[in-house]
Amino acid sequence: MVGKHLSYDIEFLTMDDLDLTGKTVFLRADINSPVDPSTGRLLNTIRIREAAVTIKELSDSKLVVGSHQGRVGNYDYISLREHAEVLKGHVGRSVKFIDDIIGPAAREAIKNLKQGEVLVLDNLRFVAEENFEFSIEEASKTYMIRTLKDYFDACILDAFPAAHRANPSLVGFAEVLPTCAGKLLVQEIRSLVSVLQKLRPPITLVLGGAKVSDRIESLEAIMNSYKVDKILPCGLLGVIFLKVAKNLDVPTGIKDEEKYIKKAEKFLSDFGDVLVFPEDFAVEVNGARKELMVSQLNPEKPILDIGMKTISKYAEIISNSGTVIVSGPPGVYEKRNFEIGTKILFTELANSKALSIASGAHTITALELFGLRDKITHATSAGGALIKFLAGKRLPLFEALKRAAEKWRTSK
Ligand code: 3PG
Repeated sequence: MVGKHLSYDIEFLTMDDLDLTGKTVFLRADINSPVDPSTGRLLNTIRIREAAVTIKELSDSKLVVGSHQGRVGNYDYISLREHAEVLKGHVGRSVKFIDDIIGPAAREAIKNLKQGEVLVLDNLRFVAEENFEFSIEEASKTYMIRTLKDYFDACILDAFPAAHRANPSLVGFAEVLPTCAGKLLVQEIRSLVSVLQKLRPPITLVLGGAKVSDRIESLEAIMNSYKVDKILPCGLLGVIFLKVAKNLDVPTGIKDEEKYIKKAEKFLSDFGDVLVFPEDFAVEVNGARKELMVSQLNPEKPILDIGMKTISKYAEIISNSGTVIVSGPPGVYEKRNFEIGTKILFTELANSKALSIASGAHTITALELFGLRDKITHATSAGGALIKFLAGKRLPLFEALKRAAEKWRTSK
């Protein structure tokens, strides 16, 4: 499995392969960040800080930065204005923001860019097409790509956390512009591959968070590729598994829940023996934390954390593991009364001798909140993309980079 990952970065062009001096360059970053639901402001800016790694290297270009933020209809579906402000503080040069993407104002601003300047476009998902997936060829013919391509000389794909999406800006430009991988993306692959070569048994997977689809779709492939000894399902995925295994009747609020229930059923019948189920959970009653055994849960009270019995059982498994991969926080760590499961398990992980991989923007946010990030072997803000990378699944962004490199090499 590791061999497969090893080949990735040599298949792409890097920023050293293209002459970007004086050129107008589109950088597809992923600065999609956790948002505070009560204020609409950014909770954590780590992805913005990381994007600056690549942007600093492009001080001789006219740079246009694009990213998505949140999902349509969600509280985190906001403008990139605050992101641009934060970015300014990290790159140490002029960063402009325009509340437009493909309209005349954005096109004029791109045309007027001077060497060394950075322009951040607004949330790319404000353009309807960016919310759909396409083949690379179809993506290159979307309105977004047709409208903007002539304004750019080259494209840099640096959005590892979104590598599993096939939206126009992630795969379409690569078909029509000289395109290479960004510095951050190359760094990420190299450091991931180096960690994957060192995995040691027993391997434990902690699956939390609220994004269920990418994780559940990749679990089977992960089981077939690595010898995973234990899976600790918490967060919404834990609830889905318990609904199947123990007939639990609690709300998840997940769209297409039935689809995931079916996948969980299949996984349970094939690999059920590796799952270690939570025994208790915490719910909110009159603003306070109340712990309930699984059999006491009811549909009126959404689950916000794992309970103390589960926490101590999981902590022991973590401390006896050789490798722990965490994808998503175990509870709603943003709420004071419900941070305890995440805090204790992440502290156990940070202090254990296990090789640790922590993945996802919320996971990293929680690790930083508790001052634990530096004690993790490999911490990445990529969530779903990391899981799919581990599972050896098709990553559209990587395919686009590969095709762009093949085209460029044959044109030489
Ligand atoms: C992520 O945070 O996982 C990436 O930015 C992709 O976001 P998405 O799951 O909304 O496509």
